[in-house]
Amino acid sequence: MRSPAAFKSLKIQAPKRYWTLGLSLALLGATSCANAQQTPPPDAAMKPIALKDAFKNDFLIGTAVSYQSLQGNDDASLALARAQFNAFTPENSMKPDTLERNEGEFRWKDADHLVELADQDGATVVGHTLVWHQQTPRWFFQGENGAPVTREVALERLRKYITTVVGHFKGCVKQWDVVNEAISDSPNEVLRPTPWRTAIGDDYIAEAFRAAHAADPDAILIYNDYNNDRNYKRPKTVAFLKSLLDQGVPINAVGMQCHWQLDKPALDETEEAIKQYAALGLKVMVTEFDISVLKSRNQGADITARENGGNDSNPYVNGLPPEVAAQQADLYKQAFEMFLRHKDVVRRVTIWGPQDGTSWLNNYPIRGRTDYALLFDREGKPKPAVFALLQAAATPVAAPANP
Ligand code: G3I
Repeated sequence: MRSPAAFKSLKIQAPKRYWTLGLSLALLGATSCANAQQTPPPDAAMKPIALKDAFKNDFLIGTAVSYQSLQGNDDASLALARAQFNAFTPENSMKPDTLERNEGEFRWKDADHLVELADQDGATVVGHTLVWHQQTPRWFFQGENGAPVTREVALERLRKYITTVVGHFKGCVKQWDVVNEAISDSPNEVLRPTPWRTAIGDDYIAEAFRAAHAADPDAILIYNDYNNDRNYKRPKTVAFLKSLLDQGVPINAVGMQCHWQLDKPALDETEEAIKQYAALGLKVMVTEFDISVLKSRNQGADITARENGGNDSNPYVNGLPPEVAAQQADLYKQAFEMFLRHKDVVRRVTIWGPQDGTSWLNNYPIRGRTDYALLFDREGKPKPAVFALLQAAATPVAAPANP
């Protein structure tokens, strides 16, 4: 429940110039507080501003929408998403294990609902994800009695799935994460072993992009991965994408997931990655941005890499200390300043969820922790990071150091 006390605390946390922005922002995000919505802002001349308005001349600003939101079980998060963001990625509702859990039985309901909401809002829908080694039913790869299928059968199933799904959303889903996380973390190999690769061969990636392009030639097609903004994974990603582009494979953009941690910022690596992907002629989408404030040995989103927690693994169950929130806000701000410097290339920045309580990081790499990775708190109130981003949006962008 939003209360006058909550607004006071905003005033303390936020730079004065942004207080009314922040207050209006809180009002915009308010869904469960009728009183707050009826209270006029202190400066009547101040127009409400949302993140999507603040960055409207720069790039799309998106969020992930959970299936709970789409099924009517988290209306507050859905309202916040719609108030603040202008690009929606279904967090799970367009993955193969949702859309076609059993061969030939498609479940479009939640995804169709998202498309409908986006249409009402004039927002962009990002399809996520067609080809991945996770959340893909085993039937794709099995024949009779569970035996592995031949390359021909697997390729036919890949094409049929992509043609059906991209065709279903043709013209409505403007961007697709076509292939997700195909590049290996290991220094000894380029591609990770996946069921699709085993069944088809290395060209499953090129074939997926070709099928998606054939199904909707106007859609922006994205290769999406974690840690491809990091030095250890960027060179092989650049080389691999170049080889696909040289073969004429229709790829339009790189998705940099950007699952970051507070204690491991690597802004210079990310900036170098943006430049190198741009040099290939690709756009860059920041597809799943979040900044965990909890410690983890892993970096990125290899969801097989679970950990056991030590004593200090879940330190903020009773709230996020202001100094940690400020540190996070500063890192978000520096990141956005960088994205703004390259806004000719960076065409979307999607935050992986609308508010802290919905983040996957509360259950990864350790289940049941209390993380604070996103921009709005569990009550939907803007965190210091929001004010930092509004400040970044309002500041003229310096020219890139090496254009
Ligand atoms: O649907 C079941 C539900 O029936 C059950 O009660 C519940 C109990 O755990 O689990 C539910 O499924 C969970 C699903 O999210 C929906 O909440 C799965 O266990 C859980 O593994 C799944 O996690 C998703 C994860 O992808 C799975 O791969 C996260 O929500 C989602 O944020 C995450 O997103 C990925 C991107 O797609 C790709 N990049 C990495 C990113 C983070 O892992």
